[in-house]
Amino acid sequence: MILSIESSCDDSSIAITKIENNELIFHKKISQEQQHASYGGVVPELASRLHAIDLPNILEECKPYFNHLKAVAVTNQPGLGVTLIEGIAMAKTIAVSLDVPLIPVHHLKGHIYSLFIGKEQILPLLVLLISGGHTQIIRVESLDKMTILATSIDDSVGESFDKTAKMMGLGYPGGPIIEKLAQKGDENRFNLPVPLRNSKLIAFSLSGLKNAVRLTIEKLGGAEKMSQQDRCDLSASFQKAVKLHLLQKSKKIFEKEKIKDFAIVGGASANLYIREAYEQLCKKFHKKLHTAPLEFCADNAGMIGRYAIEAYKKELFVDPYKIDVVYTKKRESGTEL
Ligand code: KG4
Ligand code: ZN
Repeated sequence: MILSIESSCDDSSIAITKIENNELIFHKKISQEQQHASYGGVVPELASRLHAIDLPNILEECKPYFNHLKAVAVTNQPGLGVTLIEGIAMAKTIAVSLDVPLIPVHHLKGHIYSLFIGKEQILPLLVLLISGGHTQIIRVESLDKMTILATSIDDSVGESFDKTAKMMGLGYPGGPIIEKLAQKGDENRFNLPVPLRNSKLIAFSLSGLKNAVRLTIEKLGGAEKMSQQDRCDLSASFQKAVKLHLLQKSKKIFEKEKIKDFAIVGGASANLYIREAYEQLCKKFHKKLHTAPLEFCADNAGMIGRYAIEAYKKELFVDPYKIDVVYTKKRESGTEL
């Protein structure tokens, strides 16, 4: 079995996964959403302190599995330095004291492997990753060959949902709140611009749309003056613009890439309106759409454990005395993940 730890942002999570059949046999996650909600976003130092309390509590429940562990895995990039370090400190302590190998895991590769929890991997695969930190289309050929085909030049999809909710004075995280309000809204009421619509660039951009949302709120007299129907309509109009943007750029990639399997992963892939739009697009392009169960879209240690199984088979281990947070630069399109 592999014990995996995730602490890249505001979720403390530990999982135990069986190597022989990819089965997740223990999984627990403590989310800090409530503690960060009043700030309208994650406060890194607060998140770090909460990990230091929550991770040991979860680990206590994993003790019965300690004798069966063949390796320990931990997210070491990308993420918040002060929170990643909490998971890493725990992972190296376990690796040294139980004398088992330590596997460093790239968080975004973990999101991709959320698709394969309890399953065999499907490769090659085209992936749209939409999370709080990233928006990318990635061609996944193997564990060590994942190429970025398109990326956001500014904000991410998740972030744009969070900021839209924040501007309307709603809570955090904004994604589920906006999706729910949008169900009761008129998506054609506000004519928000579809980002990069007339640009040949195969990239994403969400900051202009965010600005358009801000101006719309101002025109309505500010967040306090908005009626519930205004909030629903603006949520729906915003979500529609995000969808059209994602679809337009994805289409360009579908026209070039022959890979038949396509997946959406990351926190924002829990959005059913976006999933539904991709169902239609995939049908048109004869691609098969894959998504992770809703509980594994957002950050979790199950996906880290599933990636770690493949890394274990390839012996991608690191010296526990040398592991550290990797501070990743923003990756350009055409580079490896
Ligand atoms: O993958 P994730 O848990 O963390 C990162 O790796 O960043 O993604 C979190 C993001 C947040 O921005 C959240 O608002 C967004 O995913 N999200 C959604 C939905 N559920 C979560 N965005 C749109 N629609 C949703 N239903
Ligand atoms: Zn994530």
